[in-house]
Parts: sequence; structure tokens; C-alpha cells
Amino acid sequence: MKKVRVKVAAVSDETSSIKTFRLERADGSVFAPAPAGAHIDIVGPTEVTRQYSLCNAPDEGSYLVAVKLEPESRGGSAALHGEVAVGTELEVSEPRNLLNVATDADRHVLVAAGIGITPMISIAYDLHRSNTDFELHYFARSHAEAAFTELLEQRCGFTESVRFHFGIPRGEQGAIMTALAQDAGAGVHVYTCGPVGFMEKVHDAFAPVIGEAQFHIEHFEAEAIDASHDTAFEVELDTGEVFEIPADRSIVDVLQENGIEVDTSCKEGICGTCVMGVLEGVPEHRDNCLSTSEKAANDQMATCVSRTCGKRLLLELF
Ligand code: FES
Repeated sequence: MKKVRVKVAAVSDETSSIKTFRLERADGSVFAPAPAGAHIDIVGPTEVTRQYSLCNAPDEGSYLVAVKLEPESRGGSAALHGEVAVGTELEVSEPRNLLNVATDADRHVLVAAGIGITPMISIAYDLHRSNTDFELHYFARSHAEAAFTELLEQRCGFTESVRFHFGIPRGEQGAIMTALAQDAGAGVHVYTCGPVGFMEKVHDAFAPVIGEAQFHIEHFEAEAIDASHDTAFEVELDTGEVFEIPADRSIVDVLQENGIEVDTSCKEGICGTCVMGVLEGVPEHRDNCLSTSEKAANDQMATCVSRTCGKRLLLELF
């Protein structure tokens, strides 16, 4: 995917572990509006690529991302926190969106925890500007550990739609979700982003009420995969070329080794960059980027992690 050179225009400390970075195009032009909920890849100073949600209003002409310093960082967040300052130049991808806002919803409920607030902010801006009914629920351990509190409490323009849930023990969060879900009518769409266990609680409360198709989820973590029973299979491309995918290799690795151009980024099933169309065969989905309904349709798959339930797939290069 084409990369764009950007210059860091501002860096701020949101919390003791979260910094925001304002990114402007290095050539001085402005970015076109990004879809609400979109994310970009950032190639950091150590050449590590990570995905970050855009958390500003979609039409500001620049990008704002929030980066949480991860204790286990292998060069992504640690390098951005430690080595990037105003004036640093970086490369970013074009925005991609895995958290599309439903255009036919009567009301939207956004439920975020921790750093998962980031895509919800751009969605909230978008819904507010289009005068669409929504509420944003933000869970954090404390006010001090929550990001964007000053923005959400005072400056965003939709403060009346924001509900904070600070310091709620994990064991009590499910009851709050269940109570929220009771108010969800037929036309409600729900969006969630945060730690896996948190999103499962949101899912378990809302999905039985509104249905899987109206439940939208943004993952920042890869799915744990048991590859011990993997077997070889065959992939044919719509160009007619045929490749054997060994038990211990991914589709995308085999294709790239054979000179087939497939864009990739995370290679962990999170970002959606490597998704290809499925023309024949049944994928075994192992990604965290396609929605439940997209997986059920079986007409696309993330080729960096997913395999097949059968012996052969016919794939279409997007
Ligand atoms: S490269 Fe990110 S989902 Fe495959």
C-alpha cells in the first residue's frame, strides 16, 4: 500500500502512559477526510509498523493518533514515545476502516475501554456532525488513566452524549452492559473497542439483543491460534497460478515468495490489509479484522492467518 510522508506537528501527554501525535503531510498539503473509525499504519523510527486509530474529527486535514506505551513493546509504542518529537518525519499508510458506521441505524451505542476510546472519538464526531442519535460509554480504571477526558468533558461539542464509567471492577462491568443492552431497540448498532475480555462482555450483553450483524468490533490484538493440526492445502489465484501452502506457512508468505504482490502490514490478522476475495472453497477464518457477518459470507479472507476447511481455495487478488 502506498505510504505518505508525514511530519509530527505536535506531541502531547494525554495520561502518564498515553501520548498523542498530530501528523501533517510533509509536503504541506492537507489530508482528505478519513472515514470515521479508520486507522492508519505508522512506520516508526525503528521500522516497526503498527496500526493506530485516527481519533480526531475526520475533516481536520491532519491526523491525530494516541499511542499507549505498552510494557512489552518490541519497538512500536516505545520508539514512538521515546524517539519521536515535533518535527520528526514518519511514513504512514492511507486510512483503512474496519469499523464502518451503519448508515441505516436509528441509534448508535459506542462502548470503549482504555485506549479503545480512540476510534470511538472519530465516530462520535461524525455522528454528532450528521445530527445522528448516539451515546458514548467510556470505561477506564480512573479519571487520571482515561485519555481525552478534557476533550470529552468540555470541548468535543457532544459532551451530553458521553457517559464515563470510572473504577468499575471487572466483575461488575457485565451488569452495566446488560442494563445498557435492555434499552437497545431494533434499529440500534453497537460498536466496541478495548481489551478482549471487555469486548466479550459488551458482545455477550448486546449481540443477543440486537443481532450479530448490528454489532461492530475493533481489535488491536491478534487471535491466539493453535496451529498444531494445520495441514497443507492448495491455493489457485484468479490468474490461473496454483500454489501449495505447506502446513507451517501462511498463504500470503507463499504468494509473496513467489513474486505475487500482496499488500500486508500486521501479518497477525488485525489490520485487514491482506484480505483477498474467495471465489471457491471454504475459508477457516482466524483473523480479528473481518466482522462476524463478513466471515459468515465466506467470500473474503485474511490471507496472513486464515486457512481453509477443505483442500483448495480459489482466491481473487483485490
Ligand atoms: S496483514 Fe494485517 S490482517 Fe493480514
